[in-house]
Amino acid sequence: MLNKISIEDVDVTGKKILVRVDFNVPLAEGRVRDDTRIRAALPTIEALLARGARLVLASHLGRPKGEAKPDLKMDPVAAKLAELLVKPVVKLDQVTGPVVSKAIAGLKDGEILLLENLRFEKGEEKNDPDFARLLAEPVDLFVNDAFGTAHRAHASTVGVAAYIPAVAGLLMKKEIEELSRCLEDPGRPLTAILGGAKVSDKIKVIHRFLTLADTLLIGGGMANTFLAAKACNLGASFYEKDLVEEAALLLSESKKSGCRLVLPVDLVVTRELQAGCHSEVMAPDQIDGDWKAVDIGSETVSLFSGIIAKSAMILWNGPLGVFEVPPFNLGTELVARAIAQSSAYSIVGGGDLVAALETLGLSQEVSFISTGGGATLEFWEGKELPGISVLQDK
Ligand code: 3PG
Repeated sequence: MLNKISIEDVDVTGKKILVRVDFNVPLAEGRVRDDTRIRAALPTIEALLARGARLVLASHLGRPKGEAKPDLKMDPVAAKLAELLVKPVVKLDQVTGPVVSKAIAGLKDGEILLLENLRFEKGEEKNDPDFARLLAEPVDLFVNDAFGTAHRAHASTVGVAAYIPAVAGLLMKKEIEELSRCLEDPGRPLTAILGGAKVSDKIKVIHRFLTLADTLLIGGGMANTFLAAKACNLGASFYEKDLVEEAALLLSESKKSGCRLVLPVDLVVTRELQAGCHSEVMAPDQIDGDWKAVDIGSETVSLFSGIIAKSAMILWNGPLGVFEVPPFNLGTELVARAIAQSSAYSIVGGGDLVAALETLGLSQEVSFISTGGGATLEFWEGKELPGISVLQDK
């Protein structure tokens, strides 16, 4: 459980506070397409404003790699935040410098401003100490509420803590409490579900789940690499050739570990990946020619749903098909519905999956939605995240 100082433990009234948030949200046509991460930060922001703090919010958006990209400016985020807070949010076009210092000096208790995209600055991802000092100089306290970016050792997540006291925000606290609960005292049977395209992103967390979970269900493109390791004929399906050997090792590790690793028993396949295109269902060893797997089939949905129904705790990261191209979202949707109907305590993480649940109107049906993608996976791997380590201990 959290042994870090949080905003609940410190005096914030009248203080100028740099709040690192993860507002790395999907945009569409210049607007925020999914505001889950912004809403998740509201408890911290509202608590600090109610206590008379002066807030300087900062986030990255996308991966502009040290260049100012007009389509990655924070303006749409500021507009969405102002709408959610029902309060004006001053958006600055800079991250540091005299304009920023003056704006921060002019803040009154309970006022809020948002800096420009942190990753427009070359010093951010390099964790450059000079850039971190410039971020810290105009403020009194650093609050890290960006759990989704806690696995990155950047100037705004780690570097600033060398200059000002660093404490956790309420979202950071909640994420750590929820995600460590399943590592420290999991409900049994514990079922982990992993999807998404690549095994390469998830090897370490698979190892971890093989020692932690009772069952590991694998879907999405990454299942194909495991099926290839079982010498299945996958036609033109995507899989990672260079990881087939690793997948074979994980399969044999699962036999020894006591964690049952379950792969799809049927797959939805198509020749042409387009919305509404012709598709068929095939067994994994029967796919040939130019057919490619794009979703789990109905038998797999039943198999997974049966296991879910008997689980006490479920951890899920990654979609089980190409859910952004309907109807290949169906496997992900039906598994989400099975979780919604189960009495298990369920934790879902990963930006893609969270957005999918939101679109399906199912986000209220799971017990906890983690705002982290890579951060959640690294936390489950058992790694110490730099953005958490740097916070003051109790
Ligand atoms: C995320 O979306 O997972 C976080 O905001 C981190 O973004 P990054 O992978 O670009 O560092």
